[in-house]
Amino acid sequence: MRDINQFTITEAVKKSFRTEEGSRLKFLLETFIEHLHDYTRETNLTHAEWIGILNFLYDCGQISTPERHEFILLSDVLGFSALVDMINTRGGATEGSNLGPFYLDDAPRLHLGGDLGKGREGAVLLVQGQVRDSLGNPIPGAVIDTWQADSAGTYPIQEQASGQDKYDLRAIVTADDNGEYWYTTVLPKPYTVPYDGPVGRLLRAGQRHAWRASHLHYIIRAEGYRPITTEMFFEGTDYIDNDAVFGVRRSLITKLEAVKKTDILPPTDVKPDAKCHFDFVLAPAG
Ligand SMILES: [Fe+2]
Repeated sequence: MRDINQFTITEAVKKSFRTEEGSRLKFLLETFIEHLHDYTRETNLTHAEWIGILNFLYDCGQISTPERHEFILLSDVLGFSALVDMINTRGGATEGSNLGPFYLDDAPRLHLGGDLGKGREGAVLLVQGQVRDSLGNPIPGAVIDTWQADSAGTYPIQEQASGQDKYDLRAIVTADDNGEYWYTTVLPKPYTVPYDGPVGRLLRAGQRHAWRASHLHYIIRAEGYRPITTEMFFEGTDYIDNDAVFGVRRSLITKLEAVKKTDILPPTDVKPDAKCHFDFVLAPAG
């Protein structure tokens, strides 16, 4: 190893790990080392730039808490999260999109036609659709787990200090025998990802904004199917074409329509002002 130089060091580092031959770990590690070394050679990285990168990562760690994962945010704004969602979407299934930082796995149940908005300020939106398999068959009893921001672009979980219940604006709805679901909620507004930390510095350095297009979050599950984590967006709303975390896909955009007196709507506890329709498609498990 004493004859090591900038061209032989990559193989030397790869060989220094005694990971199991043919294992996934070996493949991930060796590929990472190759790309990291290639990046360094290709950019002729200086010492100042090298320590700058390491200090940036250090700052990401320093500002992270159990409620704030700056590395996930970094992954989001670099399109890393979106790319992982894209390559893990199964053919025929609804495209995946960001989980985001605010998911709780024990949301309260909401009956079909129930209201998630609970009288909050903002337009009442009827969300309805069907959960189907990739052949178009309805999936009875599919589980729709949803969470969202309010009409000011805030998640109640962010406002617990001012007395908000962290379980507000989140619910689990079970589809009917025909895979259909419907409920009302408040129309969410865009919000900014946190930009008071190192990722915010990165966005400013790149003259980028921190806004997310308004969206509803979903995890859809059904026995025998691969669950999907995704988001629903609304045509014509702000930042739909430049979402800060690259979450928007054409197939995830639905149309917002004002409710007309002549509309035939499913029964709801609260009368909606607007409506949208979105069908989810699940691929078989395995
Ligand atoms: Fe979100």
